[in-house]
Amino acid sequence: DKFPYPHFMAKEIHEQPETIARAINQFLDMTTGALRPLPSLDFDFTTLPRITAAACGSAYYAGATAKYWFENYAALPFDIDIASEFRYRHPRLTEGGLALMISQSGETADSLAALRHCAANGQHIASVVNVEESTMARESATIFPLLCGAEIGVASTKAFTSQLAVLLCLALKAAQARGTLEPEMLHKRIAALMLLPAALSEALKAEPQLKQVARRLAYFHDVLYLGRGPFYPLALEGALKLKEISYIHAEGYAAGELKHGPIALVEKGTPVIVLAPTDELFDKTLSNLKEVTARGAHVILITDPPGAEIAGGDAAEIIVMPQVDPAIAPIVSAIPLQLLAYHTAVERKLDVDRPRNLAKSVTVE
Ligand code: M6R
Repeated sequence: DKFPYPHFMAKEIHEQPETIARAINQFLDMTTGALRPLPSLDFDFTTLPRITAAACGSAYYAGATAKYWFENYAALPFDIDIASEFRYRHPRLTEGGLALMISQSGETADSLAALRHCAANGQHIASVVNVEESTMARESATIFPLLCGAEIGVASTKAFTSQLAVLLCLALKAAQARGTLEPEMLHKRIAALMLLPAALSEALKAEPQLKQVARRLAYFHDVLYLGRGPFYPLALEGALKLKEISYIHAEGYAAGELKHGPIALVEKGTPVIVLAPTDELFDKTLSNLKEVTARGAHVILITDPPGAEIAGGDAAEIIVMPQVDPAIAPIVSAIPLQLLAYHTAVERKLDVDRPRNLAKSVTVE
């Protein structure tokens, strides 16, 4: 039941403070901050040579974000492919490696084919999956459930953020096991995770402003999303969300790629959504923001209070998110992307929960 929300997507967006808390609580005692032991695994993070991940759509973007966490925090090589590409490109797998599948439904045909390819080639198989009775869950030696409840809206929202949260917790567990993060840094990241549900509640407060922004966005034909580092996959996810439910053409780009082509699209009034909280890449993204502003773009900047202060006059609109540890900032920034897509589709009077041509789960390739 979606009551009191007009759409399941709205309900699922608003559930995220609770669904995230549930996902994290599997790994972390949310009152003491102690990392819980993992269930028995058929692999060992300390000796694992590599993780090979494959997924589709939003689940792929969650994996692409997690690559930054596993490589930065756990110094663990992490490859991620779109499952439909992975299955046909004859990937070279590392002996003793872990194949990590990411899926809400656990029934996506290409992701299952990727899993089977890895299993046939001697990889350990684990999946980050929501539906615990799914084929993927059954065929995995280890499952890390999302615990976000049934997701009805075709556009993934709460499953996406739970995938991110589970993957971040796993990256921190791997970092702990491998001793790759200073204890102080590990504690900082854990403390940040404990604050994540509250940060998501805070982020949801930007809804009235995002609704206003969406009223204008609804009348454009092309929207560009830019981000760097872990905000690059988030830019891709924001663009996917907008196109799938509002049918507006949207492209996500790594901000550093701007001058390699996409800047040619920018003309007076082109909406450009820039994801840039204050992290070590902020200045670089800010200079990209200035480049598109100088060419007349209508920049919608998603940042934190210090970012808003610095970027001030260079953006047409600023959506201010709470200031959080860089580890969890990508998860927080998913919220304004979802709300923007949702309200744009509502403004265009579209069937938000059942967009045209799409199925909730893609069980054929
Ligand atoms: O069930 P899965 O997570 O395997 O599904 C993967 C994609 O089909 C899915 O994320 C799709 O891209 C969503 N409609 C995105 O909102």
